[in-house]
Amino acid sequence: MADTLSITDNRTGKTYEVPITDGTIRATDLKKITTGGSDPGLATYDPAYMNTASCKSKITYIDGDQGILMYRGYPIEQLAESSTYLETAYLILYGELPSQKQLTDWTHSITMHTMVHENIKKFMEGFTYDAHPMSVFISTVGAMSTFYPDSKKIFDPGSRTKQILRLIAKTPTVAAYAYRHSIGRPYVYPDNDLTFTGNFLNMLFKMTEVKYEPNPKLERALDVLFILHADHEQNCSTSAMRNIGSSNVDPFSAMAGAAAALYGPLHGGANEAVLRMLKEIGTVEHIPAFVKKVKAGEGRLMGFGHRVYKSYDPRAKIIKRTAYEVFEVTGKNPLLDIALELERIALEDEYFVSRKLYPNVDFYSGLIYQAMGFPVEMFAVLFAIARTVGWVAQWEEMLLDPDTKIARPKQIYEGYQPRDYVPIAAR
Ligand code: CMC
Repeated sequence: MADTLSITDNRTGKTYEVPITDGTIRATDLKKITTGGSDPGLATYDPAYMNTASCKSKITYIDGDQGILMYRGYPIEQLAESSTYLETAYLILYGELPSQKQLTDWTHSITMHTMVHENIKKFMEGFTYDAHPMSVFISTVGAMSTFYPDSKKIFDPGSRTKQILRLIAKTPTVAAYAYRHSIGRPYVYPDNDLTFTGNFLNMLFKMTEVKYEPNPKLERALDVLFILHADHEQNCSTSAMRNIGSSNVDPFSAMAGAAAALYGPLHGGANEAVLRMLKEIGTVEHIPAFVKKVKAGEGRLMGFGHRVYKSYDPRAKIIKRTAYEVFEVTGKNPLLDIALELERIALEDEYFVSRKLYPNVDFYSGLIYQAMGFPVEMFAVLFAIARTVGWVAQWEEMLLDPDTKIARPKQIYEGYQPRDYVPIAAR
């Protein structure tokens, strides 16, 4: 059986044969299907890329029906159980788990890049006291391209590696500064004796003590959350990273765009929205009325539903377990009971069942972050720290892919046909 598709154009009666590769046809192969004359050929219309592969990738695999997520072939459950964020970051970037020596060198390299230029600190001080930390983060990542002009050399492998190290190592520092700024506390310099997440907690929460000692359970929980958020194939922000990067701009500018995409409430801003929703519901008794409103189309059940997962998001399962581990240290988040009951009701409700709407990664993560002492405004920033490795790995894969061209979708023009300019007095 040939791997081809025969298409008959009923407008002309002509039949065409199009090759099928990896379960896809090339949209450009459809161009040969024309009615003649000025007809540019058939195109596809797919506004949200609902059924269009925009790239080939070897990094992350998702099976949305079965609830499977793997980085470089390793199931997310095993990585969350046994790996660390930095080891997983190495895996995502380089394709293999590191040897002990590779991991030691990699950890050392990241640790050596955690400090940011003093002027970045000064620059950040200029934001108003109530600036949203995610806006501060986005702006600062963009501004970092001015501090590292060598980042323009995107086809120089050495330069690329350096920018990747800088981005992974410095995003926690920028994020922590954004947080300290928002609460009016002095910024805390990185402590390179601590782990990646231990140091991040240090930069966030250190007060007058000489040495900050992170709680090992919270440090591990945050590390697991970072592993779960490290990559998620061609989501909105990663597609933004690839699209912007396809213009050959430096990775700081591209990542500012990716982080901006993540900020939206339908993407990384969802866990912030979940907490606001749980607060608004207020008590377990109010849940049925809230669900009724959602079903009537008045708002969404935030933290539910996913473009790809049509079963329980595997990350949500791990996060739910992690939540209980965190609450053992911090005490239970009082919103947990509302979340559990909301999940129970939704999973039994025909509206959610028939639409295959299950809890996603954001449903429980906000509860953990809040219990750990993060204000809701920091949630998307935490997501951005973890996703940095995914963005830069996908960016580099895109740059090295011979199929890459500057992203430039088509449109279907629905506007006016040519008409003559009318002088203002005659309008
Ligand atoms: N609450 C109520 N109804 C929903 C929800 C929801 N959370 N999500 C989808 N639906 C309904 C939607 O109204 C539609 O119903 P109908 O067919 O009757 O019009 C149907 O389910 C399909 O929805 P859709 O909007 O076509 O699905 P999508 O794939 O375009 O949207 C989504 C995916 C994640 C944007 C959406 O499920 C949503 O808005 N969820 C809430 C926000 C959220 O939790 N986002 C985090 C996503 S996971 C983290 C990340 O990747 O950033």
